[in-house]
Amino acid sequence: MNRKLILLGACAAIAAYVVLQIAPTGGTPAAQAPENKAIVSIQMPDIQGNAVIGEKVFQNACISCHGPNGTGVDGAGPPLIHKIYEPGHHADEAFQRAVANGVRSHHWSFGDMPPIEGLTRGDVKMVLAYIRTIQRANGIN
Ligand code: HEC
Repeated sequence: MNRKLILLGACAAIAAYVVLQIAPTGGTPAAQAPENKAIVSIQMPDIQGNAVIGEKVFQNACISCHGPNGTGVDGAGPPLIHKIYEPGHHADEAFQRAVANGVRSHHWSFGDMPPIEGLTRGDVKMVLAYIRTIQRANGIN
């Protein structure tokens, strides 16, 4: 009888230990890890031609706020792979204006976009080739 009790006690102790090991004890949950800050999830098409150049420009000048492949950054800036930015609503000239003059916050609550220094209209055309390619691959036409 005593032996059974001791055995039971040992089992309970082991079980408690295992549960404590598995249970989260603080730290950063996966959802808040920096690599999980995208706002939309998308399908990536092949990036070719001018879009390859645009991807590089985007990675230098836009990615900090608009996220990898334009998927947005929680807390920083909106996804450009989004119906709001389809060509019928935000034509190419809207992208040129956004880069040249900045944007006063109106669609989202991330704050204003500052003008982006050092880019030519040609650079922005390349970025457009890249963003429109990804938009089309995700049904945003
Ligand atoms: C410092 C952060 C930041 C950077 C860098 C940035 N943007 Fe933005 N952008 C924003 C925010 C925030 C908005 C949303 C404003 C709003 O609420 O409508 C925005 C909006 C836009 C819009 C929509 C304009 C409109 O008329 O509504 C376009 C297009 C755009 N960005 C393109 C770009 C491109 C291209 C680059 C890189 C060359 C870039 N942005 C870099 C923060 C940024």
